[in-house]
Amino acid sequence: MKAYEIQKFGFDGLALVERPEPKPSANQVIVKMRAASLNYRDLMMLSGLYNPRLRFPLVPLSDGVGEVVAIGSEVTRVKVGDRVAGTFFQKWTGGDLTEDGAKTALGGAIDGVLAEYVALDADGVIHIPEHLTDEEGATLPCAALTAWNALVTQGRLKAGESVLALGTGGVSIFALQFVVMSGARVVITSSSDEKLQRAKQLGAHETINYKENPKWEEKVREVTGGRGIDHVIEVGGAGTFNKSVRAVRRGGTISMIGVLAGPGDASLISILMNGLRVQGIFVGSREMFEAMNAAIKLHKMRPVIDRVFPLQEARAAYQFMASGSHFGKICIGF
Ligand SMILES: NC(=O)c1ccc[n+]([C@@H]2O[C@H](COP(=O)([O-])OP(=O)(O)OC[C@H]3O[C@@H](n4cnc5c(N)ncnc54)[C@H](OP(=O)(O)O)[C@@H]3O)[C@@H](O)[C@H]2O)c1
Repeated sequence: MKAYEIQKFGFDGLALVERPEPKPSANQVIVKMRAASLNYRDLMMLSGLYNPRLRFPLVPLSDGVGEVVAIGSEVTRVKVGDRVAGTFFQKWTGGDLTEDGAKTALGGAIDGVLAEYVALDADGVIHIPEHLTDEEGATLPCAALTAWNALVTQGRLKAGESVLALGTGGVSIFALQFVVMSGARVVITSSSDEKLQRAKQLGAHETINYKENPKWEEKVREVTGGRGIDHVIEVGGAGTFNKSVRAVRRGGTISMIGVLAGPGDASLISILMNGLRVQGIFVGSREMFEAMNAAIKLHKMRPVIDRVFPLQEARAAYQFMASGSHFGKICIGF
């Protein structure tokens, strides 16, 4: 079968190779992949920024959807012919993430899904809402679940509250969609007016160009009547943290998710002076994924995909992500 491997760091290190087809152990299923999606993490994995001690060769990507074509002797959760996605952590079904569970992230600690056939844990797969295409389903395991966990599971978002999403990448656009679904108000930033226009069409209530308004945190306060935003989806990390602190209301919540904006001097004192809740988010469990799927199904929500690349052009998909010109998700079709 065809599979991609990261053989060394850098775009040149991504190689299309032949590998033997996997066979299921008693508690595994074999999935014939139909679509995958990229996350910023995958770019960091390839560049060596995520884990400088990455084990080579590694099959990349955490997110993919396919059809179950074989099951192990003890598998009862799914059957041959089912359409499933792998869960980001193969061994995080519910409750808190354990030390052992944290070592089961696809396309990181263990081989991922950018291969024609993938062996997954029977507990580490989930059915995908029927109204979604394979590509749409393939966007859910990391970016969507992270936004869901931040806003709904840990964030306990309520109708009428306000949320700030930074930029228009995968996590932020899912956040926008979930906030709209929840009857809350969303403020979103971008470096591009054209992207902000698209965000408006998806239901964004307020849009701010962070390139034209380097003091975007003041704009956020302005559009919230001086009060500040209830909740920040913080995908920038240390480089945007202080601005997020100034944008959030007293007692508000900042979900720490990403590192897009690079280094910075995060001011810890303002967390306590403003009584903020700063919560770390690490994707989510299968139980959270099931709750998210129920909402996606009910609202007939559709993920936003910018481009789908064929399997042979996976490297171009990575390069497209590195350019930052995408809106929402980038997929690979098999
Ligand atoms: N903790 C977790 O479990 C978890 C899960 C998923 C992702 N993440 C992290 O979350 C971050 C986002 O991931 P993603 O896959 O959604 O990334 P992505 O799709 O590649 O997002 C790229 C977009 O982010 C925006 N951006 C870049 N720098 C920015 C800045 N300084 N300020 C505001 N926006 C900025 C840009 O939007 P515009 O083009 O509109 O300006 C850019 O197009 C990454 O750091 C990723 O590692 C963490």
